Amino acid sequence: MFRAMQVVLRGEGRRAAAAGLTGHCGYSTASSSQRLAGKVAVITGAASGIGKATAAEFVRNGAKVVLADVQDDLGRALAAELGADSASYTRCDVTDEAQVAAVVDLAVARHGKLDIMLNNAGIVGSLARPELGALDLADFDAVMAINTRGVMAGVKHATRVMAPRRAGSIICTASIAGVLGQLTPHPYSVSKFAVVGLVRAVAGELARSGVRVNAISPNYILTPLVKRILQEWYPEASGEEHRRIVESDINEMEGVVLEVEDIAKAALYLASDDSKYVNGHNLVVDGGFTVGKAPNMPAPAQ
Ligand SMILES: NC(=O)c1ccc[n+]([C@@H]2O[C@H](COP(=O)([O-])OP(=O)(O)OC[C@H]3O[C@@H](n4cnc5c(N)ncnc54)[C@H](O)[C@@H]3O)[C@@H](O)[C@H]2O)c1
Repeated sequence: MFRAMQVVLRGEGRRAAAAGLTGHCGYSTASSSQRLAGKVAVITGAASGIGKATAAEFVRNGAKVVLADVQDDLGRALAAELGADSASYTRCDVTDEAQVAAVVDLAVARHGKLDIMLNNAGIVGSLARPELGALDLADFDAVMAINTRGVMAGVKHATRVMAPRRAGSIICTASIAGVLGQLTPHPYSVSKFAVVGLVRAVAGELARSGVRVNAISPNYILTPLVKRILQEWYPEASGEEHRRIVESDINEMEGVVLEVEDIAKAALYLASDDSKYVNGHNLVVDGGFTVGKAPNMPAPAQ
């Protein structure tokens, strides 16, 4: 059983408070301070979940955003919702370097430059949880191709256009699964450790080009990616029970629930000039989940 699922067993105390607050931190209360006025962004995996919320936050703050994904209908609908002045959709499968290069070039052709690259597309891969000796390396390759190689391609091509201008912010979506082992199936975890690793590997070179690169590592949020995990691991549970598992049982913080908008605001900080000296950082947004571990020993006698 994975660690996150073990946490389910000790979440009872948080359920009421967290459930009562769900929905209080949505888009409507988000700032519109124009912190990205005049900036141009590309977001991969923009059609859904964290990417979608971040696209909305960036547009609200004045950016022009090129949405890139493989879910064309969702991507086009989001672009229409955000407005043709601010957002456009283009298909980009991040496993194909030429398509990643093309979306970067499209942003430059359309808007004259690229200021922000959010490498966010990701998949979880097989949820079968085999013994290590039976690990499916084809599944490992598929997860790495999107979650790690796709991010590397985004960093490479963003650098190609940002470094000559001596400016830019590259953000890569990692995960708490890249901070602690055993939280998810191994391929996903390895792919996210590698994202944090690549950020650290290239940050120095990029700093000397005037470009910053950082990672964001969210805790569980009930996006389509996580819904798929819960549907497979808890097929008998209802959608409402799945929501409770994430927002109450897994949830680390009393009284608040982690939402996609919280990750969007973390990305806004890293994208904006407010973080002008923050480079090579992994911004972990997990309510403190990964900073401690209880010892495996019986509770002390009272
Ligand atoms: N939801 C969570 O709990 C959580 C936690 C930590 C990290 N993450 C990471 O956040 C990122 C966004 O995930 P999400 O939770 O919003 O899931 P999501 O499924 O809602 O969004 C992921 C998006 O990536 C797109 N995508 C998948 N393969 C692609 C490809 N080859 N090329 C281009 N786009 C592709 C999908 O179509 C989808 O729109 C992922 O990197 C994920 O690993 C999510």
